[in-house]
Amino acid sequence: MSLLRLALPTLIVLLHLSSVNAARRHDYGDALRKSILFFEGQRSGNLPPDQRLKWRRDSALRDGSTAGVLKVTVRLAVITGGLDGGYYDAGDNVKFGFPMAFTTTMLSWSIIDFGKNMGGVEANNAVAAVRWATDYLLKATAVPGTVFVQVGDALSDHGCWERPEDMDTLRTVYKIDQNHPGSDVAGETAAALAAASIVFRSRDPRYSSLLLSRAISVFEFADKHRGAYSSSLRKAVCPFYCDFNGYQDELLWGAAWLHKASRRREYREYIVKNEVVLHAGDTINEFGWDNKHAGINVLISKEVLMGKADYLKSFQNNADSFICSLLPGVSNSQVQYSPGGLIFKTGGSNMQHVTSLSFLLLAYSNYLSHANKVVPCGGKSATSTQLRLLAKRQVDYILGDNPLRMSYMVGYGPRYPMRIHHRGSSLPSITAHPGHIQCKEGTRFYLSPNPNPNVLVGAVVGGPNRSDAFPDSRPFFQESEPTTYINAPLVGLLAYFWAHGA
Ligand SMILES: *[C@@H]1O[C@H](CO)[C@@H](O)[C@H](O)[C@H]1NC(C)=O
Repeated sequence: MSLLRLALPTLIVLLHLSSVNAARRHDYGDALRKSILFFEGQRSGNLPPDQRLKWRRDSALRDGSTAGVLKVTVRLAVITGGLDGGYYDAGDNVKFGFPMAFTTTMLSWSIIDFGKNMGGVEANNAVAAVRWATDYLLKATAVPGTVFVQVGDALSDHGCWERPEDMDTLRTVYKIDQNHPGSDVAGETAAALAAASIVFRSRDPRYSSLLLSRAISVFEFADKHRGAYSSSLRKAVCPFYCDFNGYQDELLWGAAWLHKASRRREYREYIVKNEVVLHAGDTINEFGWDNKHAGINVLISKEVLMGKADYLKSFQNNADSFICSLLPGVSNSQVQYSPGGLIFKTGGSNMQHVTSLSFLLLAYSNYLSHANKVVPCGGKSATSTQLRLLAKRQVDYILGDNPLRMSYMVGYGPRYPMRIHHRGSSLPSITAHPGHIQCKEGTRFYLSPNPNPNVLVGAVVGGPNRSDAFPDSRPFFQESEPTTYINAPLVGLLAYFWAHGA
């Protein structure tokens, strides 16, 4: 019997049963702590004394000082002291600005909606994870009219299997400016800075206003000089974080976050004026570092559902139809599920879709429940409880309720991925092997059948294939590589389920 063909009422019963019958209850608090700890393993730059993942050390301290950008760098050095810091996106050692900004936006959204569910200690750890990114994004946007969007030549980096601490590959710096626009990466960077300004509003008001004023100027640049960054930076960013989907969504997304953060009328007017021009309703069942459409509509719907913005009702209609597209058994259902019940989309690193779509399900479920509303899906309707249970089913799959009975979060539960595609995790640590390990010397560790020596606690990998199978092998990077944007939305999901239980 296929889950996809069941009518909604049957599905609700099944979801209820599966949570009641689950062999073990998950320790969401443990998973939450680990999901945040993971970000410490991705840190670039000068590590602070309270760094908890001890097998990592300082790396890439001279980022931003390569010869190619000497002129700008001299100016930048005066203003900011270079481009050290920030996060490596995944299992390599490149700092890609586009996914780093999206990660920051989602970590911030996790805290904005679910920070109250985290408890003081984990809320502080999550906020520190945001600040590690925003400190960097402030440097990357310190020169007006310029955004530094990447450090590291991806081809040079991917040609080596090296610890970040040993890295001697090209640290080329890439930027956008008015002659080489990038409304995608600049729009997402503005969204990240604006969202983070909300996180810091009461915690650190001065930092918060700095973030907000920077968000405003970066958005202005993004909107005034329109274009996709992959036009001028194709060789550097494609196929890794090429803008496949266009920059229009990031402009609306940036405006939506600026509206939420600043309450300025100009952003509300921008959203209303540009809704159609910038295709707010397009490709609605996607949400990730490239495509923000579903996120825009869910974010803006909150205000409509709170009765504060009836003129934005069309965004709620879009959000409703997005939600219907995720629910198995409704007429316009479009999203596929694996036989074991995991949301599955083609293209690799499937877990990024699972966590970001589940985040939207849970956030929307909360907005609906406060407004006492349901989602109309064809002739049926979906309740906030159904949305929440579907999100929980996805989180539980990640933590071990799946055909292989394994957790896809490293270090959580009795069985988890041991050979993740991650340079730092798979090579011996600096403590174990103080000598330099050169580019090609790393290959034998990459190809080794042994488990990784350094446990990257909390990393969630790309996950199983369409048939719920998982190779647990480094060369299968689509399955075994963790990324920061898989974890960022998961932080919010885990906080909620920790606070609210099963
Ligand atoms: C998933 O992986 C398993 C084991 O490697 C393989 O047998 C199966 O064909 C794969 N399924 C798909 C749909 O790729």
